[in-house]
Amino acid sequence: MLLFKSTILVALLAAITSGTPVAKRHEKYIAYPVERGDASIKRRYEQGSFDGFQDGRANYFTNLKLGSNKQEVSVMIDTGSSLLNIPQTGSQCLGGECANGVAFDPNESTTFKNLSKFTKGYYGGGGAVYVTGFQSTDDFYFDGGKKLPNFEFTLLNHTFYARGLLGIAPSTDTNTSYVESVKKAGYINKAGFSLYTTNDQQGTFLLGGVDKAKFEGELAIYNSKLSIPAKSLTTANGSVLDFPAEIQLDSGSSGIIIDPVIVDQINKEVSGKDGKISCDIALSGDKKFTFDLGQGVKIDVPYSDAFYWNADKTKCGSRISKTTAHYTTQNVGIPLIKHTYLTHNYETGNLGVAPVKHTDESNIVDFWF
Ligand SMILES: *[C@@H]1O[C@H](CO)[C@@H](O)[C@H](O)[C@H]1NC(C)=O
Ligand SMILES: *[C@@H]1O[C@H](CO)[C@@H](O)[C@H](O)[C@H]1NC(C)=O
Ligand SMILES: *[C@@H]1O[C@H](CO)[C@@H](O)[C@H](O)[C@H]1NC(C)=O
Ligand SMILES: *[C@@H]1O[C@H](CO)[C@@H](O)[C@H](O)[C@H]1NC(C)=O
Ligand SMILES: *[C@@H]1O[C@H](CO)[C@@H](O)[C@H](O)[C@H]1NC(C)=O
Repeated sequence: MLLFKSTILVALLAAITSGTPVAKRHEKYIAYPVERGDASIKRRYEQGSFDGFQDGRANYFTNLKLGSNKQEVSVMIDTGSSLLNIPQTGSQCLGGECANGVAFDPNESTTFKNLSKFTKGYYGGGGAVYVTGFQSTDDFYFDGGKKLPNFEFTLLNHTFYARGLLGIAPSTDTNTSYVESVKKAGYINKAGFSLYTTNDQQGTFLLGGVDKAKFEGELAIYNSKLSIPAKSLTTANGSVLDFPAEIQLDSGSSGIIIDPVIVDQINKEVSGKDGKISCDIALSGDKKFTFDLGQGVKIDVPYSDAFYWNADKTKCGSRISKTTAHYTTQNVGIPLIKHTYLTHNYETGNLGVAPVKHTDESNIVDFWF
């Protein structure tokens, strides 16, 4: 489901009676609910390719509505890429037929156009994970009958993922950037997004706004495209380990891929006498990491978001892995992002991060940074 807010009346009565000026409430934003994984993700876990989150709830999903018959498809929200792709009905997702609710049937839409341009897109470092399909356009719908006309996406005939990816990293190609296109269509003032999630992988994905109620303190602001010069990571026993390179914040990843020197030290602290990572050690006593993201912003990540028992409790798994080389860009996904309010204004190139505040309160404003 998708919420479109454009016509909420502003209650000015209080201001009139007290005579104090009230800032005009921001109304030009689009809010998508963030949703949890489902059975198709469970299959990936059972196939053994699922790195953790035993309940099958890694990553963030939302539903898009497209085509003349407004088909709803679930996509993963991915800050690590910048294109939208959606599997075609009847094609292959993760080695099996795509599940209901993740695929789009172009035959059912009278507005679908095939641009007939073949695309192969690679994800992750190794080149093993790719998607293939044809560039296409169709109309995308928001609540209230509003639509984004002829948006260009890739209709996939094959993907290594369980569903399509809504890549929301900034892009210079405004035809294929969802956020830029929503701005071009006039539904938001500034091209940018914010991501708020709760501990159980739900939340809100906002286009064109920032919810000031949903983070603690001030945002640390970096002029950067989703990578930040984070300072250090402090382990539960107090070791302060400096990050030698930037951290890319990647909601498409369920891992913590950091410098080998840091990983070695973390593993040493949670290993048993046999040298293996021990969940008895890692998961005892409410241990937590503290990520110092700079500018005074520190974010706690419980060890239980990084270490986990396998299904029969015989092996301790870890979501922490090493970058291929010392000093190269690190990539951190859901374990950190779930504790972070993440917002990015494409137009200034500024990224904001702060510790997330879980609350039902809401104070959505336009980008000010
Ligand atoms: C869509 O229509 C084409 C041509 O009529 C047909 O070959 C194809 O099988 C249809 N696809 C689906 C998913 O129904
Ligand atoms: C799109 O065009 C390509 C190339 O002409 C074709 O192979 C593909 O089947 C078409 N897809 C759809 C959904 O029409
Ligand atoms: C997807 O389409 C391309 C281009 O037509 C084709 O080479 C490839 O074999 C197709 N993949 C699958 C899984 O059908
Ligand atoms: C974007 O779309 C327009 C209109 O369809 C087209 O003329 C232009 O070449 C496209 N730009 C890119 C980078 O593909
Ligand atoms: C933390 O654990 C490591 C590995 O066992 C050890 O080398 C280090 O001295 C410990 N630090 C503190 C502050 O206890």
